[in-house]
Amino acid sequence: MTTTRSPRVEPVSHQIPLVLALVPAAGRGLRMGGSIPKQFLSLGGEPLIVQSLRTLQAAPVVDQIVLAVPLADVEYCEKEIVLRHRLTKVTKVVAGGVERQDSVRYALSQVHSETEIVLIHDAVRPFMTLQMIAEVVAAAKKEGAAIIALPMRDTVKQVRVDGTIERTVDRAPLWLAQTPQAFRRDWIEAAHTKAHAEGIRATDDASLVEWLGHPVSVVEGSGENIKVTRPEDIVIGEAILASRMKGRESGEKSPKGRRSQSRRPRESS
Ligand code: CTP
Ligand code: MG
Repeated sequence: MTTTRSPRVEPVSHQIPLVLALVPAAGRGLRMGGSIPKQFLSLGGEPLIVQSLRTLQAAPVVDQIVLAVPLADVEYCEKEIVLRHRLTKVTKVVAGGVERQDSVRYALSQVHSETEIVLIHDAVRPFMTLQMIAEVVAAAKKEGAAIIALPMRDTVKQVRVDGTIERTVDRAPLWLAQTPQAFRRDWIEAAHTKAHAEGIRATDDASLVEWLGHPVSVVEGSGENIKVTRPEDIVIGEAILASRMKGRESGEKSPKGRRSQSRRPRESS
């Protein structure tokens, strides 16, 4: 492979990143199984990690990106993920930790002290959109903290240890948390520092900010913004990709539809 430096590499938009994205990608993907951590698995021909980073790279509001990957993969990611795909906003690739919270904390230590907003997004949610990024960052600028989340759709049961239902929970106030999540830098730094000092563990970053006592807003996301977790999510992901491609094709063709009608590919049944 020949990799010559491209003269077309765009400069990052700010010397001091006002909005900095952190991408935890240092997990082992135990629920997915297999020998390759799921962030490196391909969906539609491109690794999940690249798809997530491409969307962040394309987001006008994101100034820089810090990526956390497994220690053994730091060099590989710098060359084969960041440089190869011209992800010019990625300014640092750091080694992650044992748990997601550790990976985020290590990446946070690289954040410039004048950064205003830290946006955190799991590498394994490749269907995040530019609109989600714009909305969650705007909400965090206004309110201090905001996350993409989805109102609960299914009926929720509280189940006893013996496997019988104790009660049906009112789902009206229940939302499922997704990423991206965006925070004032000082809030998220204080939350991670205090949680680490006190041994508090959480599966998302908003929980730690809530625990500090700050309000966190929700911005409605999409059912397509799945976290690729288990093997069946790859199948669901392929279907989401296919439907997006189809939408894009018909959207692109519609303005000149009359002229190009005869050349349209036949729809598969
Ligand atoms: N992650 C991380 N560092 C860890 C663990 C997880 O950066 N020590 C990242 C994952 O790479 C992923 C995101 O956090 O992008 C969400 O985590 P999850 O879906 O739980 O991924 P894994 O921990 O890799 O999967 P599993 O829990 O099944 O092992
Ligand atoms: Mg995990």
